[in-house]
Amino acid sequence: ELPERFSTPLPIPPVKRPARTTADTDYYDITAREARVEILPGLRTAIMGYDGIFPGPTIATRRGRRTVLRYRNQLDVPTVVHLHGGHTPPESDGFPTDLVLPATGGARFAEQAVGGRTSTGTRDYTYPLDQRAATLWYHDHRMGFTGPQVWRGLAGFLLVTDDEEAALPLPRAERDIPLMIADRAFDADGSLRYPSMDPRLISMAGVDADHMAGAAGDVVLVNGAPWPELEVDAARYRFRILNASNARRYELALDPAPHGGGPFTQIGSDQGLLAAPLRHTTLPIAPAERFDVVVDFSGWPVGTRVTLTNRAGGGGTGQIMRFVVARRATDDSRIPARLSSIEPLPTASATRRPWMFRKGRVTSMGTDAAGWVINGREFDPRRVDAAPRLGEVEVWRLATDAYHPVHIHLSPFQVLSRDGGPPGPADHGWKDTIDLRPKQYADVAVRFDDYAGRYLLHCHNLEHEDMAMMATFRTGR
Ligand code: C2O
Ligand code: CU
Repeated sequence: ELPERFSTPLPIPPVKRPARTTADTDYYDITAREARVEILPGLRTAIMGYDGIFPGPTIATRRGRRTVLRYRNQLDVPTVVHLHGGHTPPESDGFPTDLVLPATGGARFAEQAVGGRTSTGTRDYTYPLDQRAATLWYHDHRMGFTGPQVWRGLAGFLLVTDDEEAALPLPRAERDIPLMIADRAFDADGSLRYPSMDPRLISMAGVDADHMAGAAGDVVLVNGAPWPELEVDAARYRFRILNASNARRYELALDPAPHGGGPFTQIGSDQGLLAAPLRHTTLPIAPAERFDVVVDFSGWPVGTRVTLTNRAGGGGTGQIMRFVVARRATDDSRIPARLSSIEPLPTASATRRPWMFRKGRVTSMGTDAAGWVINGREFDPRRVDAAPRLGEVEVWRLATDAYHPVHIHLSPFQVLSRDGGPPGPADHGWKDTIDLRPKQYADVAVRFDDYAGRYLLHCHNLEHEDMAMMATFRTGR
């Protein structure tokens, strides 16, 4: 029996306090552990949570403040933390075989650390965060097991702000709200249901053959609560929308539509502010993408219930959450016509590289099975697939056979074209993940800066990722 919709208030993940702060660095202690939490009313769900909660605590910081995550793994399986969208040195980027082993019994996982560096029980991740204000998130990235470990709860926000953004009159404080959307499936006793080959997550990566397309659920959670409700003032709100689902894409809309139409004013994308605001009637959002939008609730009469719907879903997954326009209120926020400046990357002399994302044979999972490959090859953490030079612009052509949300680590990119035509309406600004449709190709311009070392590009459908749809590039001079 699924819970009644819109009966739970929207939770806001708590903001984490640093354990210690120096002139330029904040140190955060975060522990991954098991917990039993109430997600469905009256039932207990075992999760893996950063600090035992889902979503994990939000880290809120400013550009250039060095952030050290003193991470402890109290789970009984290996974990890896990746800061998605972070401009991060390689040793802290969470390479999928840089395992943080459990404090006891870690030895049995030693061979899963191929091509990586293990630590036992704890690891410091250092994030310089010298990058634009943006909605980032951190999540697990263990090779072969990212899907089940994120599904069980290992995901949280990291919000970066900067002087440019802080100077704008955008909605702030309790009218600036992160929304982590994630679908999940549950058993009758409230436990999370996931189609793992090995439910103990010890060996046998990936999912059963029926779930090649990815794991999906029939319950939509926002900030960990099923179809929640939020009372709002008749005023502008900023929502930092993250699709943290393993595999599901959404097409978000508001119902009823407001007076005047175009309910979403997009102000930012994955990597922060757009140059200028953009109006959208619907927002297509693939796994790992972020849309920073303003919704003006004065566009509806007080008392209206406004549902955030999903036009790409039906039944339960056709709805996300509900807003109730509760009262009139003063609002001194504005959306300026100019938000930021975005210089197009110069591409005239760029190195071009093709990356083909498609189904293929995979042998590294213990069996010879169907999986997902890039340029015909399954992920091998010992192999380097490309060696871009630091500081030089490259144009990558990303092509697909099916839906693949492609994510590139280290540096943001700009979408130049789709299928040789113009970029899509949701492709603007600096991106780190692109929602590619079946049999489509897109050209993106990227310039890797600052850090030499080994990084990933991969499909962010987490089941595709776990079934080998990752590749490495090594940046250097
Ligand atoms: Cu959000 Cu490589 O991941
Ligand atoms: Cu994919």
